[in-house]
Formats: sequence, C-alpha cells, structure tokens
Amino acid sequence: MGWLTELVEERGAEALDLHAQTINPQFVRLLRTIGFDRRWARAEGAYLWDSDGNRYLDVLGGFGMFNVGRNNPRVREALIEALELQRPGSVQLGVDSLPALLAEELLRRAPASVGKAIFTSSGAESVEAAIKLGRAATGRPRVLSAEHGFHGLTLGALSATGAPEFRDRFGPLLPGFAQVAIGDLDALERELASEDVALFIVEPVQGKGVNLPPDGYLQSAQELCRRYGTLFCADEVQTGFGRTGRLLALEHWGLQPDLITVAKSLSGGYVPVGALLMSDAVYEGVFDSLPNAVSHGSTFAPNDLAMAAGLATLRELDGQGLVERSARLGELLLERTRPFVERYDVVADVRGLGLMWAIEFQEPNGGSRTWKLLERIQPGLFAQLVIVPLFREHRILSQVAGHGMNVLKAIPPLVVTEEDVDWFANALDETIARAEKMPRALVRFALGAARAGRAPKRKLVRA
Ligand SMILES: Cc1ncc(COP(=O)(O)O)c(C=O)c1O
Repeated sequence: MGWLTELVEERGAEALDLHAQTINPQFVRLLRTIGFDRRWARAEGAYLWDSDGNRYLDVLGGFGMFNVGRNNPRVREALIEALELQRPGSVQLGVDSLPALLAEELLRRAPASVGKAIFTSSGAESVEAAIKLGRAATGRPRVLSAEHGFHGLTLGALSATGAPEFRDRFGPLLPGFAQVAIGDLDALERELASEDVALFIVEPVQGKGVNLPPDGYLQSAQELCRRYGTLFCADEVQTGFGRTGRLLALEHWGLQPDLITVAKSLSGGYVPVGALLMSDAVYEGVFDSLPNAVSHGSTFAPNDLAMAAGLATLRELDGQGLVERSARLGELLLERTRPFVERYDVVADVRGLGLMWAIEFQEPNGGSRTWKLLERIQPGLFAQLVIVPLFREHRILSQVAGHGMNVLKAIPPLVVTEEDVDWFANALDETIARAEKMPRALVRFALGAARAGRAPKRKLVRA
C-alpha cells in the first residue's frame, strides 16, 4: 500500500472538519445545514458512493466537468502512460508534439472560422484570453456580454459576467464592459454601432438558469458583429464537448465564431485544462512579429498531462458515441419530465438541450402564502425544497441553476443510462408532488436552513 492510500485511509474521516479548519469553514457550515455533509468514498461514471456504501446519481457532474464520466478508465490509462513516457514537455523555449496534436484535434472538430488554439488552465482563463487577444486584435476597448451570462470569476471574466451576485463587493471591475439582454438585437446593434466594441461574448445556452437563446438570435448576433467589426465569441466552457448533444453547441445554429472558449470537461475531469480557439485573423492581429510571438500564455497551460487527458477525452467522446448519447438521453429526459408542467401547478417550465436540462418552479395559481414567505426569506428557496429531499431521500446530487432562482439544473456525465434517467425523473415526480404541498416540516427545515445560512451583518472595512 502506498503512502497516499494510507494517508487517505487514516485521515479520510476528518475531511469535513479539516476542510473547515484549513480551507472554508462557511462552506462546511452550509453543507451541514442542508445535510449534504457526506463522507465521499468513491466515484465512477455518473455515480458517487458515500462511506456507508450508498450509491448516488450525480447530475451536478462537478459543474459539468465529467462529460466522459468520473474516473474514466481510458483517460486514466492515457494519463498513466503520459507519466511513464517521461515526455520532454514544457520546455518553454522549445515545443513538444502533444500540445500541437491536441490543438489539431480541437481545430479539426471546430468550425472553419477558427484556425489557431492557445491553451489555458480554466474556463475563466480562456475568457481572459478572449478578452485580451480580442482587444489587441481589433484595437478596440469595449467588451459586450449578455445579461445573466456567466463567464468565470477572475476580474476580467467577472467583468463580463452579468449576474450582480457574483460582481457585488469585488469592484471596481474592468472599464469598458456592458451587458445586453439576450434576444434584444436592437440593443446589441445600438452598442455595436459605436464601432468600439472588441468582442461580444455569449454562451450558446446560458449556464445560469439554462436559458436557451430565442430562435435565430445567435445567428443574427453573429451577423451584426461582422457588420460592425466586432469579434463574435462563443463561450463553450460549459456547453462544449457533447453537453448539448453536439460536440460544440454552436453547431446547433451553424455559427462561425471568431473566438471559442472551452475548458471544463476537456480533460475528462482529471486535470485543469482550457483553450481559446481563434480565427487566423485574430492570431495574426496579436502575434504579429517576433517580439510579439509570446504575447500571451501561462506556464502550466500546455502541460503534458492536460494535453494527454484532452486527447484521450476527445477519443473517448468519439469512441463511446457520447455526443449522440447526450442528444438521445437529453430527449428522453425531456420526454419524461415535460409532463410535469401539466401535472404540477408549481412547475412553470421544463427545458433543455442534450444533457443540459432544467426545471423552473413558480408560485402556484391562485397564490400561496407559504410560497410568498419562502420567497421573502430567500428568493429561490422553493427549489431547495426539491433539491434537499432529492439528495437525502433519493440519493441524487443536483443543484440550483443560479442565485435566487427557482430553477433546478442537471448537467450529468454523458454516460448516464436510461435507468438513471428513470431514477431521476421518478424521484423528481415524487419530490415535486410532496414539495408542492409545502408540508410544514419541509418548510420549517428550509426556513431554518436559510436563516442559519444568513451572513452576519458585515462590517465595512475601508483601507
Ligand atoms: C460558460 C462558462 N464560462 C466560463 C466559466 C468559468 O470556468 P472555470 O470555472 O473553469 O474558471 C464557466 C464555469 O462554470 C462557464 O460555465
């Protein structure tokens, strides 16, 4: 037995306490308050096991990084092989084949509008690269994004992120950023017409809320960008690699962006990885001379393990037919859950594309005092009345689709089976039926949890 196995065996039981001591006590408090404080023992495919041997269905999927399934054996083998090969990677003033091979595979699968790739280590870094290179390539300062969009939490990416709950307290953010409402082409054109916008960055399907774009919107937005000399950037960090039933979600609308950001599941969930795919024109606008040959990069970004995992993940998506599987099982999930809109007063909408799925709740017709109370204490609290029993009684790990939203979201590994879809749909059916009645015990629990989770009034500290 290796020392790591021994260490995990010896100290695994301390995970929550140790995390609270050394990393984030508030987060551990939150987990304990909602009863998500399990000791996790094992993971495989779409499942997690707790230390009592109970199996959970993971429809949260590590925030969408496990498209090929947790602990995918073929990606793991590639990583072991990469370690054993002892490749001369990261020479820095020199190149090795693995990054170029992964870039080749990515570009081969991407639309013809992009011709170069630069690697990063996260989604936010891919967005940062898009902003930086987009500005340099166009010589323009401004960046447009969509309201309710999410692009990451580093300062540049955060400046493009539309949701105030992520932005408040962290300002001032970068100058030159503005948001437009999805679907409002007039507003977009008004912004673009000033001809000082470097790029418009947009998620093909918004992750926060799982908002699908109105028909024709993305194509028209791309066309407007072309007309006014703005780069069109598709943020595929969450929607990429089969999530929506196509390898890239942009394929649903035949988009040809100048910039495409990817990350998350590209490494099969094993190692940090990301990339910005860009048009040759953007590349040439930035890396335009020998002194500018290294205008952007990051020490670890094109490291061997990330590259090997990326190559293995793309092979896995192809080899196991996971993109088609996502489309098929996504349809099945919609088929099984759309009837809930008719069946339950409290269900406003069920929507999805591939295995990016959401259910939205609403105040029942005729009004409900309990609903109003829940909303007053914490907007989006009703969704917790579903998510908590889904976890505690049906062993399904899910999430709300964003702050203050009565939207439950599923982005499971694409390896889920028909039986898993049944497991999820049946559990939802039962849980919504009960939550809709807003039984006193459940409401009391939710209110208690919301009150316990309240931040104490923060003192303003001015430097
Ligand atoms: C569309 C989108 N862009 C960017 C990001 C940021 O990625 P990361 O968390 O890897 O920085 C996310 C993360 O959820 C995302 O969904």
